[in-house]
Amino acid sequence: MGKIIAIVNQKGGVGKTTTAINLGAALAHSGKKVLLIDLDEQANATIGLGFSRELLEYTSFELLASDIKAEELVYKSTDRNMDIIPGSEKLVNLETALFNVENKELILQGKLKPLAGKYDFILIDCAPSLGVDVENALFAADSVIIPVECEYFAYEALPLMISKIHQVQTVRNKRGQKLTIEGVLLTKLDNRNIFGYKIIDKVKNLMPTKTFNTIISRSSHLQEAPMNGGSVLKTAFHSRASREFRALAQEILNNNK
Ligand SMILES: Nc1ncnc2c1ncn2[C@@H]1O[C@H](COP(=O)(O)OP(=O)(O)OP(=O)(O)O)[C@@H](O)[C@H]1O
Ligand SMILES: [Mg+2]
Repeated sequence: MGKIIAIVNQKGGVGKTTTAINLGAALAHSGKKVLLIDLDEQANATIGLGFSRELLEYTSFELLASDIKAEELVYKSTDRNMDIIPGSEKLVNLETALFNVENKELILQGKLKPLAGKYDFILIDCAPSLGVDVENALFAADSVIIPVECEYFAYEALPLMISKIHQVQTVRNKRGQKLTIEGVLLTKLDNRNIFGYKIIDKVKNLMPTKTFNTIISRSSHLQEAPMNGGSVLKTAFHSRASREFRALAQEILNNNK
């Protein structure tokens, strides 16, 4: 049975999409079958994997707001082990489209059930929000990864995300379902500057057993890779960024043995 991991943080720009693309590619590189679901109207993960958003008729909007089956929304990426359900700016209208729908937070959970056996990992790249899209991700996921940029405002915003996760955990526990924290992932570390290490200490104090050992450094390779339509494993395999995401994939595989 595949594991569904939501990559969440209501704080913008902390590295959610970069993690979705590159962790996905690293898991695929280690032989795992991966599906990436882009649940953000910015569609950054979709574009970063080389798709042109104008050409995509069926997207994660239809996944949540139509009867179309999830299988029919899956596109192959250039990585043979990684598929994608793309994002779309139509997601801006999701709240309105689902306004009168009962149990709307459970749509994604239901839609992904038939896919869970086909993939080892389903990664959901979430928008920087706590809206109905992110609720759906939290109700569908087995676990969450919370990327946190090594800077003060990102650290300061972390308790809000944790408290949202706890709320959903409480509801799901009552239904006999689990949502665990796979880990907090520290990102964009500038290792020439002592300040980032202070944030690392603070996050580790807050989440001592739930912070990944792997830390993602600031890297121009990661900034450039989406422009070249692929992961950093594809565009700069021997770079430090590629090594770090492969180490993160290994850490997750070890934790899920
Ligand atoms: N480790 C890194 N080193 C350098 N730049 C990075 C790194 N991680 C992400 N970035 C850059 O920071 C910006 C934000 O990253 P990303 O899009 O992954 O964040 P996000 O959390 O998905 O943002 P949003 O909340 O808008 O969806 C991008 O320009 C990306 O290229
Ligand atoms: Mg993003």
